[in-house]
Amino acid sequence: MLRSVIAGSGSAIAPHRVTNDMLARIMDTSDAWIRERTGVETRYYVEPGTRTTDLGVIAAERALEMAGVAREDIDLVVFATMTPDQYFPGCGGLLQSRLGLRPVPAFDIRQQCSGFLYGLQLVDAHIRAGLARTALLVGAEIHSGFMPWGPGSWARLAGDVEAPLEPGEWETTTSVRHLTVLFGDAGGAVVITAADDGSRGVVDQALYADGTDAAKLCVPGNGFARRPYVDPEQIRRLEHVPVMDGRYVFKMATTRMTEAARALLERNGLTPGDLKLVLMHQANLRINEFVQRSLGLSDAQVCHNIQRYGNTTAATVPLLWDECVRGGRIEPGDAVLMVAFGAGMTWGATLVRA
Ligand code: COA
Repeated sequence: MLRSVIAGSGSAIAPHRVTNDMLARIMDTSDAWIRERTGVETRYYVEPGTRTTDLGVIAAERALEMAGVAREDIDLVVFATMTPDQYFPGCGGLLQSRLGLRPVPAFDIRQQCSGFLYGLQLVDAHIRAGLARTALLVGAEIHSGFMPWGPGSWARLAGDVEAPLEPGEWETTTSVRHLTVLFGDAGGAVVITAADDGSRGVVDQALYADGTDAAKLCVPGNGFARRPYVDPEQIRRLEHVPVMDGRYVFKMATTRMTEAARALLERNGLTPGDLKLVLMHQANLRINEFVQRSLGLSDAQVCHNIQRYGNTTAATVPLLWDECVRGGRIEPGDAVLMVAFGAGMTWGATLVRA
């Protein structure tokens, strides 16, 4: 039976490191609050003008190098992002061209924080169906574009201006502080190859979506329910910034990630103790600690990097995978479970033999 093996991985971290104390220069927040409630200590932002595809290209080049795969061998591209370079066309085709790949099929998918897991299923289905043999799966995001901060805020964030922020802008930045402090910019990529050896590869996946409560985590403006789809009034009302019911998302993430992990393990005759490592989407360290306790996982079985990068949406799982492989925490044959929950709502789990 054909299996989809993750043959190489790569990451791209944005250049500007932003600490919680730096954020406290431009909104009413503190390092203590952010660390305690979310676990985030730093996140990284790109230079203005950098595109999501740029991060994807860097991560993909590193993944190709690790896999030892030539560009002409790639026969499928899947790009998971909710922050594309532009409204259309999507990042998949742009990445295909930037990397000099053959004109192979390229999909963009929008499952937010579950994007990487959905992408893995799409690639795995193509490989099992004989439609692809060597695929590139990318998850990349530039969230800094969501920040409704004017030039004065950015200058203070960078430490270029010391005078306090004008009160109106302080009020605006503070009004979305529960959201903005969470996110960072990054890209992750994996090269996935078809293998006949059944001992390695994607074993099984359980993915879910339920749009009933989509409005609890969404970008309310800049869509084609409006005419025109974007205008200055929408921006003035901050409708280009995601709305998030944090408590609801926290509760659903802990519940759904635990359920998906249990369901997948059960139908594969495994227990949490059989896993070498569990890679959870990095949205909030407290969410992941809760899931760890619910599943009875030891500290050695989980790995987090949200402290350094914040939530990077579709990039979190490939970033973690890449760090763990390069750090020797994942070795060929290891049973690894990936679990994610995100806007949509979408969620799921993927079981892989590394
Ligand atoms: N700094 C300081 N205070 C903040 C703050 C910040 N960055 N953000 C919110 N607060 C304040 C609130 O205004 C509120 O103040 P009040 O009590 O005076 O009204 C207080 O902290 C508690 O707010 P609440 O929203 O109830 O906090 P919380 O403990 O639920 O933490 C989140 C907020 C966002 C960190 C948390 O709900 C969360 O992480 N949810 C999941 C988010 C997520 O996973 N998103 C990605 C989707 S995959």
